[in-house]
Amino acid sequence: MPQIVTVRTRDEAGELAARAIVDLIDSTPDAVLGLATGSSPLPVYRALARLTEGKDLSQVRGFALDEYVGLDYSHPESYHSVINREVVEPLGLDPERVQVPPGAALDPDDAAARYEDAIRNAGGVDVQLLGIGSNGHIAFNEPGSPLDSRTRRLALTERTREDNARFFDSIDDVPTECMTQGIGTIMEAKQIFLFAFGEGKADAIRAALEFPISTDCPASALQEHSNVTFVLDEAAASLLS
Ligand code: F6R
Repeated sequence: MPQIVTVRTRDEAGELAARAIVDLIDSTPDAVLGLATGSSPLPVYRALARLTEGKDLSQVRGFALDEYVGLDYSHPESYHSVINREVVEPLGLDPERVQVPPGAALDPDDAAARYEDAIRNAGGVDVQLLGIGSNGHIAFNEPGSPLDSRTRRLALTERTREDNARFFDSIDDVPTECMTQGIGTIMEAKQIFLFAFGEGKADAIRAALEFPISTDCPASALQEHSNVTFVLDEAAASLLS
C-alpha cells in the first residue's frame, strides 16, 4: 500500500524526497533517477541543487517520463529543454547520461522500444519522481491507458492540453500528442515519490488511493507498488477519508 505523507509546504515536500535521493547518490554515485517535468517536482530539484552543492553528480543517470510530439526540442517548453534547464544544469549532471523520450523520432515504435531497452540496460530506475494529472494521469498515460502499457506515442486529452496551456501562450500551441513511458514501465521503478499540491488534484488523489484500481485513474495502479510515497499538501489530501 502507498505511504501517505502530508506536508505544509512544497518546499517541505521537495526536501523530503531530495534527502532520500542524496542518500541514494552517496551510496550509489551512478544511481538512476526517473525525472518528471511539470510544476510538482520543481521543489525537489531546487532542494537537490541546494543539498548537493559542491558534490560531483556527473555519474548520476536519468530518464525523463515523457515528451511532446511536434514541439521542437529547442522550444523552452519541450521536455528536452525543461529537463536541461531544471535538472541537468542546476545539478551539474552529464547531459550524455540523461535521456528524454524522443518525441521527434520518425519511427516512434522503434524509438519507444529503444527507450525501454535503455532503461532496462541501466538496471532500471532507482527513484522515480511523479506528478499526477487532474484526470489521474501519471506521465502522460491518460485515463484508459492499459495498466501494463510500455513507452509509446499517444494522444493527449483535451483536459491535459487545457491544464498545460499555462506553460504556453495559448492552448492552440499545446501539442496534441506525446511519447510517454507506460504505466508498466513506471511500475518497475524500485522506489516512487508522487507529489500533488492544490485542490485541483484532490479528486485524482482520492481516486488513486481510495477507489479500486482502474484504467479510469492511471495513478491507481500505484496501489500495487511495494515502495511508493504520496507526498501531498492539505488541499490535495482534502478528500481522503
Ligand atoms: C510530467 C508528467 C505529468 C505531470 C502532471 C502534473 O512529466 O508526466 O504527468 O506530472 O501532468 O503536472 P503538474 O505537476 O504541472 O501539475
